[in-house]
Amino acid sequence: MPGDADSMMNDWAGLPATYGDVLRRAMDSLFRTFENFSEGTFIVDADARVVWINKRYAARFGFADPQQAIGLDCETVIPNSLMREVVNTGKPILLDILETDREPLVVTRLPLKDDAGTTIGAVGFALFDELKALTPLFSHYSRVQQELIATRQSLAQARRAKYTFASFVGTSPASLEVKRQARRAAQVDSPVLLLGETGTGKELLAHAIHGASSRADKPLVTVNVAAIPDTLLEVEFFGAAPGAYTGADRKGRVGKFELADGGTLFLDEIGDMPLALQGKLLRVLQDREFEPLGSNRIVRADVRIIAATSADLPALVTAGRFRADLFYRLNVLTIHAPPLRERLSDIESLAYAILEDLSTAGRGGHFELQEDALRLLCSHAWPGNVRELRNTLERAVMLSDSERIDARALAPFIAVAGASHGASAAPAAAANVAAGGRDAAAATATATAAAAAEAPAQPSWADAMATFEKRFLGEALEACDGHVAAAAARIGMGRATLYKKIAAYGIEV
Ligand SMILES: Nc1ncnc2c1ncn2[C@@H]1O[C@H](COP(=O)(O)OP(=O)(O)O)[C@@H](O)[C@H]1O
Ligand SMILES: [Mg+2]
Repeated sequence: MPGDADSMMNDWAGLPATYGDVLRRAMDSLFRTFENFSEGTFIVDADARVVWINKRYAARFGFADPQQAIGLDCETVIPNSLMREVVNTGKPILLDILETDREPLVVTRLPLKDDAGTTIGAVGFALFDELKALTPLFSHYSRVQQELIATRQSLAQARRAKYTFASFVGTSPASLEVKRQARRAAQVDSPVLLLGETGTGKELLAHAIHGASSRADKPLVTVNVAAIPDTLLEVEFFGAAPGAYTGADRKGRVGKFELADGGTLFLDEIGDMPLALQGKLLRVLQDREFEPLGSNRIVRADVRIIAATSADLPALVTAGRFRADLFYRLNVLTIHAPPLRERLSDIESLAYAILEDLSTAGRGGHFELQEDALRLLCSHAWPGNVRELRNTLERAVMLSDSERIDARALAPFIAVAGASHGASAAPAAAANVAAGGRDAAAATATATAAAAAEAPAQPSWADAMATFEKRFLGEALEACDGHVAAAAARIGMGRATLYKKIAAYGIEV
């Protein structure tokens, strides 16, 4: 009949007789195994007095003969012993660390019960006499812990503003006005909309605004809407409960809104946001709360929005591709980042700031722009704006033998950049500048466009080589699925050199 004692024995009562035998042997050998392999074993009675202690254990605590310990309180024999607690509560302490005057011991303590389930004593095993035995476990644990700390630190680092207003170079009236507006935007908490062509410094401004705002010591989290597939955007924004969708991380996912709590969420290329998600975003901006995908959890997030786009947002609204209500919600403080061609007077200081940055970024050298180089820079239309200017200078610096950058050193790269935008005008402009044409400095996009209309110019040797090399490297990389090391080996080029050239030519890997 299942009585108290049986229920103490879990559900073993119904075991067939033969199994009962196995069970008895299991219990018996369990004790023997522990006894044999542990560093020490002892048993106490219901009053926590030592009933039995093995030789090794007794010796460790200074009893040459185990008999001397019998009948003594457990704490007298083993200081810090918790056997009395086990006897009193009837509950095991499965794993614990016992401090001793030597090495600490890893111990386990189990109550002993009679048939009626009454605690009649306890048995204690010292599993290891050195924590060393647990070293693999501990080191695994502490490695995981270290990794977690490092990841958190680097994330926190990454979420701090990288640029300040000081990083925004330019003293042209257009630049000063942009900085003035951005500084004002930093003082308030309403949404900011940054409009402007690609490469005009919208991301830089977003960082600067966050960094100068009262949210500066909270995270700045960026979502590049154009870079994430539509199907993943919702999860990216709002997160998902564990297993909420096929392929979801088993542990679920924290959305960018939640990560940015207290700080700033920078929505880059917001013009690319799918309409359905625009509706959800608008609701979150109004309610300041949302539910991660597949969860019943309401998340409140206090987030300041900075949105940017190079698209013509009002035109998208007219075309029905951007919700008017979301546009009005975002269009509170709107800042237009002017294209580079409208602030040619900034080019010199921008170029020097970029060259300075390039030399501190490990390329060394103190670069100087020759007069004709500056004139060439000012004659280009810069459809890619400051980003294009930076890429151009980076390429010229990498492949130039001299620290004095002249128009000849720049021309091939401006030509390559121009060609990728469908104009091969730059060599003509370069020739013009190199020839010392007085008007060249004043020449702008108009000159470039006019030159483009002429018959295709004979490309220079450097130009042709650069075009060939870029294509050659691109093909090698493609053949190796973008593996730089593999591609370098395949074409017999040093890996570092290939990396440099990839950066110099702006090859997408
Ligand atoms: N006014 C500026 N002063 C210094 N660097 C700038 C400036 N504007 C843009 N840049 C640089 O040009 C590149 C592109 O800027 P970014 O902010 O990413 O442009 P956008 O987001 O508008 O495409 C970055 O390397 C950035 O540091
Ligand atoms: Mg950008």
